[in-house]
Amino acid sequence: MQSFPVTRTSAPKTRPADETLRFGEVFTDHMFMMEYHEGRGWHDPRIVPYAPFSMDPACCVLHYAQAVFDGLKAFRGADGQVRIFRADRHAARLNKSCDLLCIPRLDPAVVEDSFRALIEVDQEWVPAKHGTALYIRPTVIATETFLGVHPSHSYLYYVILSPVGAYYKEGLNPVKILVSDEHVRAVPGGLGSAKTAGNYAASLYAAQEAEKKGYTQVLWLDGRQREFLDEVGTMNIMLRIGDTIVTPPLSNGTILDGVTRNSVLALLRDWGLPVEERAISIHEVTKAHSEGQLTEMWGTGTAAVISPVGELGYKDNRMVINEGRIGDLTQRLYDAITSIQYGATNDAHGWITTVPTKQHAA
Ligand code: COI
Repeated sequence: MQSFPVTRTSAPKTRPADETLRFGEVFTDHMFMMEYHEGRGWHDPRIVPYAPFSMDPACCVLHYAQAVFDGLKAFRGADGQVRIFRADRHAARLNKSCDLLCIPRLDPAVVEDSFRALIEVDQEWVPAKHGTALYIRPTVIATETFLGVHPSHSYLYYVILSPVGAYYKEGLNPVKILVSDEHVRAVPGGLGSAKTAGNYAASLYAAQEAEKKGYTQVLWLDGRQREFLDEVGTMNIMLRIGDTIVTPPLSNGTILDGVTRNSVLALLRDWGLPVEERAISIHEVTKAHSEGQLTEMWGTGTAAVISPVGELGYKDNRMVINEGRIGDLTQRLYDAITSIQYGATNDAHGWITTVPTKQHAA
């Protein structure tokens, strides 16, 4: 692992108790930074005290959202060891997002090392309570000062860390989801498969409308026909219809290649369960529900890990799934993924990288 210059804070913050953690509200003492300038490439990687940036009001990211990010987590196991979940896949995905936003790629080894080195500095901030984690937010923003629309000639890569609890206030309790047949988050040929700021901005209006109607989030349909399932909120969607687990495919470029999605599919295949990555019509879902075949439905994502869907609203139809309770398979998947993340189960897939900590020398 490469090391980076570190400037330590002279004013460490008070860490919140694990029991009080929600999602993304507090940040650790340090952050990682590295700049890009055309002709020079990525340069000056370093760890510095967490602090606000000073930006020119004409900085292009503030106007045209040339920005990508990713999100991954580190977990403290019962043994005290800190483990990062699938850092390599997140670093690779950050670069795929960069490609779509015309941002120069980063060296994935530097990205992975930036996570490890920063967590090593802020290791005391990794919470220990089951269900908590240290959320890692690598971000790239365009930094050139100009108002013309073209790819920036300079960028900032930075990483911040946030000790977190559950993403949804419901925790692992099933959420109510409204099928959005009016608004869409992505279209084929667009940026749906990139983790970029604009996709999340595009999701706000429909989510707010759904909230007003008593739902936690929306289930997005495809942008052409408003028929085929896309994502749920900021997560990938999976359904159990009969004995088969189905999830929309990545092939049309509108869906994020979720790391939890990929991990869940790997586990389901390990367990010998039938899995289909294919287009799923909302009419198939309502039919399966009316025939009693829609037995479980859940979202997968880094922030919430697994989020069961207890009710699905589509037009005037309110479909209650598994009597509004978490399903057996949903629970099994949550337990399996979190056991690997907290180091309670053997990491058969090689998904974990450990962080050198005071307690556990590398
Ligand atoms: C995730 O599920 O990890 C997300 O994408 C949510 C994040 C944008 C807060």
